Amino acid sequence: MAAGAGEVRRAVYPGSFDPPTLGHLDIISRAARLFDELIVAVAVNAQKKPLFTLEERVAMLQECCQHLPNVRVVPLQGLLARFAQSVGACVIVRGLRAVSDFEYEFQMASMNRQLAPEVDTCFLMTHQQYAFLSSSIVKEVARLGGDVSQLVPPNVHARLTQRFAAESAGEATPATNL
Ligand code: PNS
Repeated sequence: MAAGAGEVRRAVYPGSFDPPTLGHLDIISRAARLFDELIVAVAVNAQKKPLFTLEERVAMLQECCQHLPNVRVVPLQGLLARFAQSVGACVIVRGLRAVSDFEYEFQMASMNRQLAPEVDTCFLMTHQQYAFLSSSIVKEVARLGGDVSQLVPPNVHARLTQRFAAESAGEATPATNL
């Protein structure tokens, strides 16, 4: 149900966050200023094979959001629209980087509206500084030994370094979707 006067304005910011980047954190801190409560929902995505497990992604974001008292990080196992309804959120927040994001975002927002008409989607323009940034490009560069320390929070950088060091040492570190 949408928030009325005097009600808590709760928003959900969903994503794969594999891994979280400074672009994600920029959206989180801005959304946390716009809403009374922000729930960062870390999704299981059956179509993607994540580098980090769901638990690792939740833990990384919890570490990053410690200084934001109105932000909660939780795992998201099912339908986003149903989750938003179940926590009483009036808004789903998404970041928009470029025109290329639009089609996918439009499709998702339309489907979510179909499923939960009372929950609106709110798009925040990504800061220009992070317009080119994605989790996929961070993983690719980090995997090949490039410096991503300016693109992700320090705790995420440490985990990436550790993960790819283990990978190049021949340790199998496949993350499951669960
Ligand atoms: O960071 P991503 O991968 O672009 O985020 C996509 C995400 C997690 C928001 C989307 O896949 C999602 O909402 N997943 C939850 C399952 C669901 O509700 N799917 C239908 C979306 S219309």
